Amino acid sequence: MINVNCLNNIAACGLKLFSDEYNTESSFEDAQAVLVRSAKMHDMELSDNLLAIARAGAGVNNIPLDKCAEEGIVVFNTPGANANAVKEQVIAAMLLASRDLIGGNKWVADNAEDPDIAKATEKAKKAFAGQEIKGKKLGVIGLGAIGQLVANAAIALGMEVYGYDPYVSVKAAWNLSSEVKYISDVKDIYKECNYITVHVPALDSTKGMINKESIALMKDGVVILNFARDILVNDADMADALANGKVSRYVTDFPNPAVVNMPGALVLPHLGASTEESEENCAVMAAK
Ligand code: MLT
Repeated sequence: MINVNCLNNIAACGLKLFSDEYNTESSFEDAQAVLVRSAKMHDMELSDNLLAIARAGAGVNNIPLDKCAEEGIVVFNTPGANANAVKEQVIAAMLLASRDLIGGNKWVADNAEDPDIAKATEKAKKAFAGQEIKGKKLGVIGLGAIGQLVANAAIALGMEVYGYDPYVSVKAAWNLSSEVKYISDVKDIYKECNYITVHVPALDSTKGMINKESIALMKDGVVILNFARDILVNDADMADALANGKVSRYVTDFPNPAVVNMPGALVLPHLGASTEESEENCAVMAAK
């Protein structure tokens, strides 16, 4: 019998793939295999039984990779399994940053008791006018499974798309629309784009890559989208850039005490991969 521990809820369609040779209700201590979503494993004692960890998601920053390598524990993730869900949310975020639908909806809720709301609407709506994304330039930093889908979707929406990824795989490049302009110096993304979205892993080399130096190169009023990991953005520099208007909106999927109170930041509770479909895709890929 092979013991499998689920550190987080894993969709049933994934667990069903295990045959009778597997016990999917094992404790963590007895498990040879662990399935994990967001549980932080850095401070956990890894038992000698453990052979493999499968992360039902893309990022592996909740897993102690160095410790696993030393102990010969194999770590898998599920690249691409949640990419469509994240792509859809990035497109929604870009639209929310461009049209004040949230402000408009709040106005309607605040005026719900007004019997003349239909008339009042026509006066009030000018406060929520925005801009279209069609014809604007989007810079996609990181052309892995998610970045590539975002780039192609933005092309379909009539945007001019610049893509940067010095490590792009043949598969990702193959799937990329030929209309995406491939950029070899990330500074050209910073200088040219109205919207910039980051899709790179959280590494020492990417930590704080969106900071006062990179922001200084950007267009005034740029919109920055972060659906990758919070540490990619220097929060203090972002707060300054939002306060002085250099950045018009910062949309992030990663609440922390700094961004939740940052005027101009639109903060979502890490919902990028939270769809039924993506949870199932990740569970199936992780179990396999
Ligand atoms: C990922 O790393 O796959 C996404 O951030 C979603 C998640 O953490 O589950």
